[in-house]
Amino acid sequence: MQSISASAEANSAKGIPIVRCEGISKFFGGVKALDSVSVSFKAGEITALVGDNGAGKSTLVKIISGLHKHDEGKLWLGDTLVDHLTPRKARVAGIETVHQNLLLCDNLDIAANVVLGEEPTRFRFGPLKIIDHHASREKARAQLDRLGTSLPDLSRPVERLSGGQRQAIAIARAIMKAHRLVILDEPTAALGLRQTEATLEVIRRVAQTGVGVILISHNLDNVFAVADRIVALRQGRIAWDVTAAETKRETLVAAMTGLLAAPAL
Ligand SMILES: Nc1ncnc2c1ncn2[C@@H]1O[C@H](COP(=O)(O)OP(=O)(O)OP(=O)(O)O)[C@@H](O)[C@H]1O
Ligand SMILES: [Mg+2]
Repeated sequence: MQSISASAEANSAKGIPIVRCEGISKFFGGVKALDSVSVSFKAGEITALVGDNGAGKSTLVKIISGLHKHDEGKLWLGDTLVDHLTPRKARVAGIETVHQNLLLCDNLDIAANVVLGEEPTRFRFGPLKIIDHHASREKARAQLDRLGTSLPDLSRPVERLSGGQRQAIAIARAIMKAHRLVILDEPTAALGLRQTEATLEVIRRVAQTGVGVILISHNLDNVFAVADRIVALRQGRIAWDVTAAETKRETLVAAMTGLLAAPAL
């Protein structure tokens, strides 16, 4: 997790835009997946991104995480206009993403997947480093415990795990590494009740340290349980962007399904 000084710095940045999209469009052949989307995501704020299947949610977060390049519009990271964002550049900027079809390294064990890129080392000389496997396991264990996931043997390869266990590992890794923004695309879809509750609690705590969160979910109970703000996409356009406290569930559903026009957009 972040050091105290890093969280203090993040806390003081609360409410400041981390990512800003201005008129972003994305085409896949003849399909306009995103149609002039303008939205920003702020430090310390949990934004739920909702909408029907195919609304463009995953496409939007793939653009923010550097996996897709937008065709039109502008993308800002902080004050910097980014022309060509790559997954690596996004990571360096402190943005970590758990994609809907998540990626784990099947050839590595559970602990190695959790601490990937953040491995504690015993010895470091220039590019040469020796990973401290014991410390790696402890670090991975602590993070998984916080998410309510009990995996007795962290030396097991991840290829043998269930969908929910794999998801918990991917979330643990992203939350541990994200210094500015963590993006979770359907993070609780494969999780049990206890892990879902624990994950929502960790999301709240992460936001309190000043990290921004984008949570994509079809589960409106989860959305209302944690979101500060709700953004709904419909057919590639922003249909709703309001604070969660001002939103009634029926109104949100109406906006998502096109029965209601967006408030003052
Ligand atoms: N790589 C791709 N190639 C072609 N079309 C795509 C691709 N990715 C997304 N699309 C299309 O773009 C539109 C938006 O898809 P997207 O995956 O962003 O929706 P979503 O809101 O995440 O949906 P879901 O809730 O089902 O995950 C859909 O019409 C989809 O078919
Ligand atoms: Mg999706």
